Amino acid sequence: MALRISPSILSADFGHLVAECERVAGTADWIHVDVMDNHFVPNLTLGLPVVESLIKSLRTPIDCHLMISDADRWAPGYAEAGADSVTFHVEAAANPRQVAADIRAQGARAGLALKPGTSLDDYADLLPEIDMLLIMTVEPGFGGQSFMVEQLTKVRKARELIKAGDLDVWIQVDGGVSASTIQDCAEAGADTFVAGSAVYQSADPAQVVSTLRDLAQAATSTSWWCAH
Ligand code: DX5
Ligand code: ZN
Repeated sequence: MALRISPSILSADFGHLVAECERVAGTADWIHVDVMDNHFVPNLTLGLPVVESLIKSLRTPIDCHLMISDADRWAPGYAEAGADSVTFHVEAAANPRQVAADIRAQGARAGLALKPGTSLDDYADLLPEIDMLLIMTVEPGFGGQSFMVEQLTKVRKARELIKAGDLDVWIQVDGGVSASTIQDCAEAGADTFVAGSAVYQSADPAQVVSTLRDLAQAATSTSWWCAH
């Protein structure tokens, strides 16, 4: 079973972004870029011009996590710029079905994100139209928060639906993912893991990515959802 580790540069040194990404270039599957607008979330990070520069400067694919209002208007631009995956929040989109279609039309994978308080049941019908479901395991906005273990119920439910529908949809978890929590995420059904502070507050980010991958792989191979 393939799984992906996507270090979040939110906890990296913003003065040396390309160098920070290069530290995990050999081991990370993606670079997770958190775009925040100080409106959808109470924090401000970076926007399209910086993402465009990163895409040009890096070999590792970019996984854009948009925490911005009016995803309908802004999300397709990130796909057009060349991001490999563009994830928008369902709470920030008037017509999520259309946003996903617009992202895909630009050649990127379309991701749909749910805040901790957002129920999966209301959006389960969108699963066939997306490539990834992002289940937030903290309130979006800041790195370094504690993992919300109760969100694993949502992960499990999503995996059941994806399995039952034989859908090709990745399940990403984001927030508080570390060596202590990644195995529970993988066991519940996640296959794509974002880690910010666990990776970038370490002296050896590449080593952490590789450890996280090993832990997730081990937990996945014995999990209920990954039948052999
Ligand atoms: C938070 C961001 C995350 C953040 C995770 O809103 O979406 O990607 O970087 O940070 P950690 O891994 O430190 O919880
Ligand atoms: Zn994120």
